[in-house]
Amino acid sequence: MSGPLLDGKTAVITGGAQGLGLAIATLFVAEGARVVLGDINGDAAAEAAAALGGSDVAVGAACDVSAMADIDSLLKTAIDTFGSLDVMVNNAGITRDATMRKMTEEQFDQVITVHLRGTWNGTRQAAGIMRENGGGTIVNMSSISGKIGNLGQTNYSAAKAGIVGLTKAAAKEVAYQGVRINAIQPGLIRTAMTEAMPQAAWDSKLADIPMGRAGEPDEVAKVALFLASDLSSYMTGTVLEVTGGRHM
Ligand SMILES: NC(=O)c1ccc[n+]([C@@H]2O[C@H](COP(=O)([O-])OP(=O)(O)OC[C@H]3O[C@@H](n4cnc5c(N)ncnc54)[C@H](O)[C@@H]3O)[C@@H](O)[C@H]2O)c1
Repeated sequence: MSGPLLDGKTAVITGGAQGLGLAIATLFVAEGARVVLGDINGDAAAEAAAALGGSDVAVGAACDVSAMADIDSLLKTAIDTFGSLDVMVNNAGITRDATMRKMTEEQFDQVITVHLRGTWNGTRQAAGIMRENGGGTIVNMSSISGKIGNLGQTNYSAAKAGIVGLTKAAAKEVAYQGVRINAIQPGLIRTAMTEAMPQAAWDSKLADIPMGRAGEPDEVAKVALFLASDLSSYMTGTVLEVTGGRHM
């Protein structure tokens, strides 16, 4: 395989304004893709797109992944602006951590809605377009929290485990139409989401990592590139852990 891995492809990345989403967008552009960044913070998405090289390669748009109409308009932006939809990365996320005793129903619902409903919206609508157009790839952002269950994250762990089931079921439905769907389970990666965590929680996670360090966003982006590109042409319904060996 030679040349850029995503040459001429169009990728939509939710939660693309910062963190893992922005790292994925940056690597995808470097590999020849044009990207549409959807984020609840539309201004930040537009700024990120401008920094990636402007309207020839990147567009930012306001999008709440939990609203089907917002997902539809994001996907339409990709097709209207760049002519196709080849890759969808369902990455947007939030945390509302609390023990079950203290977690409110609203906190539970918010996290389930953004992650699980949001990923379902993105997977369903993107797969619908891709199968009409001969194929595509979808990458869903789960978390190691969905494999092991984390204290204080009954909402988040449930949503992230749900994304695994969703990914596998959806992959079976559309494999014969050329659409591949896979998931990533990152461990402790240095972003705004994890830097908000108390130092003691950070230190205790670090102590469990065989490689002895947190991951960097571009180390998740490289795995997203693998799953989005033909490098993974015979893979669908898989879950790749990017954890430095933690919870293997
Ligand atoms: N950082 C980690 O260690 C880690 C580990 C495992 C999984 N993840 C997952 O990776 C993804 C990205 O996390 P991150 O660390 O980059 O977080 P982050 O907080 O830096 O970025 C998340 C982005 O999602 C956007 N967003 C939030 N709600 C949204 C909505 N309803 N619609 C559209 N956009 C929305 C935010 O505005 C933000 O730009 C999340 O799904 C997260 O659960 C992160």
